[in-house]
Amino acid sequence: DSDSGSGSTGGGGGDEQIVMGFAQVGAESGWRTANTKSIQEAAEEAGIELKFSDAQQKQENQIKAIRSYIQQKVDVIAFSPVVETGWDTVLKEAQDAGIPVILTDRAVDSEDTSLYVTFLGSDFVEEGKKAGEWVVEEFGSEPTNIVELQGTTGSAPAIDRKEGFEEVLAGQSNFTVIASQTGDFTRDGGKKVMEAFLQQNPDIDLVYAHNDDMGLGAIEAIEAAGKVPGQDIKIVTVDAVKDGMQALADGKINFIVECSPLLGPQLMEITKTVLAGDSVEPRIVTEETTFTQEQAKEALPSRQY
Ligand code: AHR
Repeated sequence: DSDSGSGSTGGGGGDEQIVMGFAQVGAESGWRTANTKSIQEAAEEAGIELKFSDAQQKQENQIKAIRSYIQQKVDVIAFSPVVETGWDTVLKEAQDAGIPVILTDRAVDSEDTSLYVTFLGSDFVEEGKKAGEWVVEEFGSEPTNIVELQGTTGSAPAIDRKEGFEEVLAGQSNFTVIASQTGDFTRDGGKKVMEAFLQQNPDIDLVYAHNDDMGLGAIEAIEAAGKVPGQDIKIVTVDAVKDGMQALADGKINFIVECSPLLGPQLMEITKTVLAGDSVEPRIVTEETTFTQEQAKEALPSRQY
C-alpha cells in the first residue's frame, strides 16, 4: 500500500516531535488534492511529523492504515472517513492504545462519541440547503426537472448534501428530481452518469452535482450532446475549487456552494491542544460561502486552490 512517512524538523519548537498518522480518502477530486496539500504543508509548518496514506476510496485500506499507525505508536491519528459506518472496532483499538483520533472533513456515525476527540469539517447538510435555496430563487414556480449526481455512496457529504437539498425543495411540487445516481465524486463518474441521464431524459433543466468535479464531467457530457451547459441545462455544484470556479466564471456552471479543503492549519492547532492535555470543542465547523458567476470572476485571481 501507499504508506509514506515525511519527516520534518522545522517550525514547531518543543522537545519531542509530534508524530501524526493521517489516513486520507484518496485523490478523487480537485478538492481532495487541495486538502492533502493543506495537511502536508501545515504539518511541515507546525513541525509535526506526518505519516500519510492514500486509501484510494476504499474503507478496508483506511482501516489497514489506521491499524498500522496504532502499531507504530503514533501520537495522534487523524482521518477523513470514506464512508460513515463501520468504524467502531478500529476506533476502539486506537482508544485502547491511548491514541487520540481526530476526524477531519467527514464524520462517522458511531454512537460512542468518546471514540474520537473532535470532528473538524463542513456542515454538509447546510451546503445542500444552500444549493436548494439557490434553485428555488432561480426557478421560482417554473416546472423544473432536476438530475442529481451524488457523491460516494455511504459518505457523509453524499448523504447530507442530498438531505439538505431535498429538505429545501420539499413541498414545492414544481421541482422533480427525475434521476439521481452516484458519480463517486470523480470527473469521469460525473461524465458517464450524465451521458446516461441525457440519453434517458430529453428534458433536463438542472444538474445538482455534489461536487465540482462531477459537475465538470457533466459539462463535457452536455456539450457532447450538443447542448449549452449553464444555459440549456443549468448546473449547481459544491466545492469551489479552481476548475469549478473557472467554469462558473465562464458561464458553464451557474452557482457554487463553497466547501473549504484548507483544514490543515486548524488540524495541527487542534492536535497540539489535545496533546497538551487541553480540551477542544467536540464539533468544529468550517466557515464557507457561496459564489455566483460574477463573484467567481472577482474571486478567481486570488483563489488559493
Ligand atoms: O468530503 C468532501 C468531499 O469529498 C468534497 O466535496 C469532494 O470533492 C471530495 O471528494
